[in-house]
Amino acid sequence: MEQKFITVGVMGWPVEHSRSPIIHNHWIQKYHLNGSYGLFPVAPSHLEAALRGISVLGLAGCNITIPHKVETLKLVDWVDPIATKVGAVNTVVTQPNGDLHGFNTDVYGYVQGLRDSHPDWRADAGPAVVIGAGGASRAVIVSLLEEGATEIRILNRTNVKAEELAHEFGAKIKTIKWAERNEALSGAALLVNTTNQGMHKQEALDIDLAELPKHALVSDAIYIPLETPLLAIANSRGNPTVNGLGMLINQARLSFQAWFGVMPEITPELNKKIISTF
Ligand code: ATR
Repeated sequence: MEQKFITVGVMGWPVEHSRSPIIHNHWIQKYHLNGSYGLFPVAPSHLEAALRGISVLGLAGCNITIPHKVETLKLVDWVDPIATKVGAVNTVVTQPNGDLHGFNTDVYGYVQGLRDSHPDWRADAGPAVVIGAGGASRAVIVSLLEEGATEIRILNRTNVKAEELAHEFGAKIKTIKWAERNEALSGAALLVNTTNQGMHKQEALDIDLAELPKHALVSDAIYIPLETPLLAIANSRGNPTVNGLGMLINQARLSFQAWFGVMPEITPELNKKIISTF
């Protein structure tokens, strides 16, 4: 008997620039599965109706992207503890009884992206510095805490947002004022940019790496361009670096597994397909 057709997709507003259809449809083909991944442009005022539509339309679930990740957490029937910690859902999985379960696969995606390029990486190797205090920062912080980070220094242009994160995530989080960001890199084992600074059409992140140890891993959640100005400087001074492509594909892997029951692989062919769209 032929396998049931599985329909999934991504809800966002706007959503047409999402790379997720390329990734998931590539895997559907590669693993000879019967299904399709589509784009669902959903205005914020329609989010609840669209989510309720998931099970009646027979979708196996969907990805959730900007600006719906926080609101979706309040609308699904059950939320995974990791997604609760992040405060955002990026993956919805329809249950056999029609209930919607919410997950956050960005948390897995971030750490797996580091591990894929630096298999010996350890969260407890030394202090981590996270730049930014928005949604991406929250996923990275939960990821590092889950992996056993002992100290996370948060730097954010608007200091009060960093302080809110410290209050929420506890004693392992330290906040350092934006004006002192260059000195805050001293002794760090990991530096992560979660802001939009360095993204295509944005200014470069305004930070001086002179105090950062040369062995510190420098990671950027941005994937367009693959080498942000931050990563270019880090590379030129000999620091190991990781771009945002691994996080993008690894968060997709876990969602794909939840819907299709197959943990898909990252291959050079897939990387090339995604990069060709930049
Ligand atoms: P995301 O969900 O992608 O994390 P976000 O929640 O809008 O997006 O967060 C954007 C982050 O980029 C914030 O930490 C923001 O700093 P503020 O809290 O001060 O706004 C940071 N950011 C944006 N523009 C910046 C700039 N010019 N310099 C430094 N940080 C900036």
